[in-house]
Amino acid sequence: MTKSALAGVVLASTTALFGTAALADLNLYCSAQEEWCQIMEKSFEEATGIDVAMTRKSSGETFAQVQAEASNPKGDIWWGGTGDPHLQAAEEDLTEPYVSPMRDQLHPWAIAQATSAGDKTIGIYSGALGFGYNTDMLAKAGLPAPACWEDLTKPEYKGMVQMANPNSSGTAYTTLASMVQLFGEDGGFDYMKRLHANINQYTKSGSAPIKAAGAGETLIGIVFMHDAVAQTVAGFPVATVAPCEGTGYEIGSMSIIKGARNMDEAKKFYDWALSVEAQDLALQVNAFQVMSNVGAAKSDKAPDMAAIKLIDYDFKKYGSSDERKRLLSKWDSDVSTLPQ
Ligand code: F6P
Repeated sequence: MTKSALAGVVLASTTALFGTAALADLNLYCSAQEEWCQIMEKSFEEATGIDVAMTRKSSGETFAQVQAEASNPKGDIWWGGTGDPHLQAAEEDLTEPYVSPMRDQLHPWAIAQATSAGDKTIGIYSGALGFGYNTDMLAKAGLPAPACWEDLTKPEYKGMVQMANPNSSGTAYTTLASMVQLFGEDGGFDYMKRLHANINQYTKSGSAPIKAAGAGETLIGIVFMHDAVAQTVAGFPVATVAPCEGTGYEIGSMSIIKGARNMDEAKKFYDWALSVEAQDLALQVNAFQVMSNVGAAKSDKAPDMAAIKLIDYDFKKYGSSDERKRLLSKWDSDVSTLPQ
C-alpha cells in the first residue's frame, strides 16, 4: 500500500469512528437563523483559514445536545440562540469561562450577561418578542388587526395562531417566561392555556411560525419582532406588532463548550464574532437584531427597541436551571395536553 493509500484508509476509519464533524478545525453549534449561521461559518473560514463544521439547531435543542454530550463534547462553540439556555448551561457547568479582549467594545447589556454567568457566556445581540400577521389573509377574512397579547386569545383567531414549542425553541421559552413576568405565575399560565385554544401548531424552530404566516399557512405567528420584519423585507405581506401590554426580549448569547477539543479555535471564533466586521454580516442576511458591539451597523428597518414597551426581563431567574425546568414541565403538563 502506498503512503497516500494508507493515509486514505486511516482517514476513512477515523471518519467512521468519529464522524466528519470531528475532523473539522472548529465545530460550531449555531442557534440563530440558518442564513446567518452559514455566513458566519463561511466568513470565519475566509478570515482565518480555519475549517468549520456548523450545525444549526434551535436554542433548547442545542442546550439538550450540549448536556447530553457533556462527558464527550463534540461541539466547540455555541453561537446564537436566546440567552436563557446559555445561562442554564453556565450554571450546569457545561460551558467554559472566557474573558475576550473584545469585551470593552460591547454594550453594557452584553457584558452584564457575561458577569451574571461567571464569564461562561456573553451577549451577541438583542431583540424584542412580539408577533406578526399576514395582512392579505387578515383583509380577506375581514378580521381586526391584533394589537395586544390578549387579542391572540379571542375566538375569532381560533386555529390561526402559531408558535414554537418552548422545549425546543428559545423564542417560545421567552414567550412563556414573558407571560409569567407580565401577568404573574397564575395569570401567565392562564394566558398560555387560553392561547393554546387558538394554536394550530407548535413548531420546533422559533422563527418557523412567521415564515408560515408569510407563506399564507397561518394568520399569526408569535416570534421575535426582527424575524417578522425579515419576512416583510423579503417581500411577504407581513405586519409586525409590538404588543400593547409590553413584552419580553432576548439577549442572544455565545458560549464556549467545556472540554472543547479545539479550544484555541473556539476562542478565535469568539473574539472574531464580537468584532464589528463579523457583526456587520447580520445585515447581509436580513438579521435585524441589535448587535452587541457598539460600533456595529444599525438598520433603519430594525425594530426600535427604545420605542417598544419592554418588561424588566429577569434573565438570572428565567435562565436558571431550576426555573427553566420547572416552567417547561408545567407547560408540558398543564398547557400542551389540553384539548383544543
Ligand atoms: O431567527 C433568529 C432568532 O429569532 C434569534 O434572534 C434567536 O436567538 C433565535 O432565532 C431563537 O431560535 P429558536 O427559537 O429556534 O431557539
